[in-house]
Amino acid sequence: MSEIIIETPAIEQIGILYNKLGQGKKVAVFYDTHTAKLFEKDISQELNKQGFHFITIVIEAKESSKSFETAFKVYGDMIQANVDRSWSVIAVGGGVVGDLAGFVAASFMRGIPIVQIPTTLLAMTDSSIGGKVAINHPLGKNMIGFFHKPIIIIIDPAYLKSLPKREIYGGLAEVLKYALIIDEEFLDYLEDYFDEIVALKSPYIEEAIARSVDAKVKVVNDDYKEQSGIRAILNFGHTFAHAFEKLSNFEDMRHGEAVLLGMSCASCLSETLGNISSETTSRINDIILRFNIDPALIQTYFLNVEPAAIIENMKSDKKKADGYNRFTLLEDVGRAYLHYERIDEEDITDAIEQAKAVFR
Ligand SMILES: NC(=O)c1ccc[n+]([C@@H]2O[C@H](COP(=O)([O-])OP(=O)(O)OC[C@H]3O[C@@H](n4cnc5c(N)ncnc54)[C@H](O)[C@@H]3O)[C@@H](O)[C@H]2O)c1
Ligand SMILES: [Zn+2]
Repeated sequence: MSEIIIETPAIEQIGILYNKLGQGKKVAVFYDTHTAKLFEKDISQELNKQGFHFITIVIEAKESSKSFETAFKVYGDMIQANVDRSWSVIAVGGGVVGDLAGFVAASFMRGIPIVQIPTTLLAMTDSSIGGKVAINHPLGKNMIGFFHKPIIIIIDPAYLKSLPKREIYGGLAEVLKYALIIDEEFLDYLEDYFDEIVALKSPYIEEAIARSVDAKVKVVNDDYKEQSGIRAILNFGHTFAHAFEKLSNFEDMRHGEAVLLGMSCASCLSETLGNISSETTSRINDIILRFNIDPALIQTYFLNVEPAAIIENMKSDKKKADGYNRFTLLEDVGRAYLHYERIDEEDITDAIEQAKAVFR
């Protein structure tokens, strides 16, 4: 299991955690161009103070840094700095840095440890946890990668202060997902303290992160390599979301925004199949409406798109099996499951129409 700490300030603990694990204090610290500006000075100072020997690696702050080209260049920097198997990698950033640094760590000299210091809400609650690391292939996102669990995850919620609100909402989409799939009580909490969490107020933001981390750890521990289908519940809303992201060319719409619309559709579909009541669907849609998604985005990539086109764009989602999409749906709030059977296109269309009405 990974050592996980959530506190402010957290970086001061790094030496203690390394000692506890008997891990040598030689590290390659990865940032992107933004997180280097924001955090490199402080983190370097702390590493120096605590007797670490380290090199710094900065990648471009963009999704396309998750590539073989970037990894290959970074391997070169590490070889030149005499990095060997006694070293570890530390990733300071969002999911892009975490995934690329994790990919490099998993493959460099057949694998060295990775430590995650997530700096976006999405990375703190989702991508830094669970051990999936990947780069993109021109034919598909996250296609090439490993399961490589971090030895340590250091979460300092204060790092979120510089994060644009849109990124906060994006991360919060996954937080809401955890409540919907395994923790109904957490949904009550999110409904009560939504504004405080968005405003990063203590102790609400810490609590939201901690409960999300617990949820993800629990699901991942039950099904680390996605074999039993349990981990698939993390995919709630994501099959529909894939269509919206694809329709927006993976550019205009943030992943979290697509997931919110996707969770609305998936909740409506759960109702269409008779799993949940219309009151439950309304409750879920009400909180989704509090996320302030840009109405122009909703119009262009959802309301103006025919259900048939949305369904068509879901078909390349990698979670499909036997030629049809397998949806993660709700049995109730806090209880998601993977629906193995094929669902009639008519039912999917009805659900999309119902979800559209929510956003009109
Ligand atoms: N491995 C997994 O299990 C997993 C899960 C979900 C998503 N992902 C991956 O995560 C990536 C998305 O991650 P993301 O949303 O964190 O995006 P990101 O890493 O691109 O970060 C978003 C932006 O915020 C900037 N930033 C980071 N921290 C900041 C801070 N504290 N203040 C100000 N700006 C900051 C970044 O430089 C970047 O410009 C995708 O590549 C996705 O595939 C992986
Ligand atoms: Zn997601």
